[in-house]
Amino acid sequence: LKIGILGSGKGSNFRAIADAIAAGAVDAETRIVISDVESAGILTLARERHLRAEYVAPGKFKTKFEPEAEQRVVSLLKEAGVELVVLAGWMRMIKAPLLEAFPRRIINIHPSLLPQFPGLEAWKQALAAGVNETGCTVHYVDAGMDTGEVIAQSRVPVFPSDTAEQLHARIQVAEHELYAEVIGEFARKAE
Ligand code: GRF
Repeated sequence: LKIGILGSGKGSNFRAIADAIAAGAVDAETRIVISDVESAGILTLARERHLRAEYVAPGKFKTKFEPEAEQRVVSLLKEAGVELVVLAGWMRMIKAPLLEAFPRRIINIHPSLLPQFPGLEAWKQALAAGVNETGCTVHYVDAGMDTGEVIAQSRVPVFPSDTAEQLHARIQVAEHELYAEVIGEFARKAE
């Protein structure tokens, strides 16, 4: 399965996926990594692994791409032969150009048990709500924010003593395992 990974941040999910591929646990190939942040750790990690890593300037909007920039992302993914688009810490809404180019072929990971706590810093939302369990969700991406159909979830406990950092770290451990599993499942189905 040829995958393209989009991320805006440090890239720990990318690293987990790349490690699972390298270990032979996931039968996929990362064809390209794209970021909207020139200094993002995910691009550095991709280059260290000798993968194609591209920065695409997003344009003037804060929460989405300008249409021409999103079209550039589509072109890069298509040229790279990408079959599944994996959002890993991607901080912009996905619009028509990308959604229409990859119908039901874009997945995201979110740090909560959706539909609970969509949006930013979901682990802080979980702490504020006082729940004793949260987790992470892999879902198909649609035009909404964290609203697409759920593919898989993993649960983690919330302890009364948790700081936001501790809870986020616990969720990320679960994310890394879950994302690799889900991509492995997509790869098996693609055979
Ligand atoms: C993860 O917590 C993910 O759920 C959220 O953004 C974070 C990305 O972290 N969408 P990383 O860049 O993969 O380390």
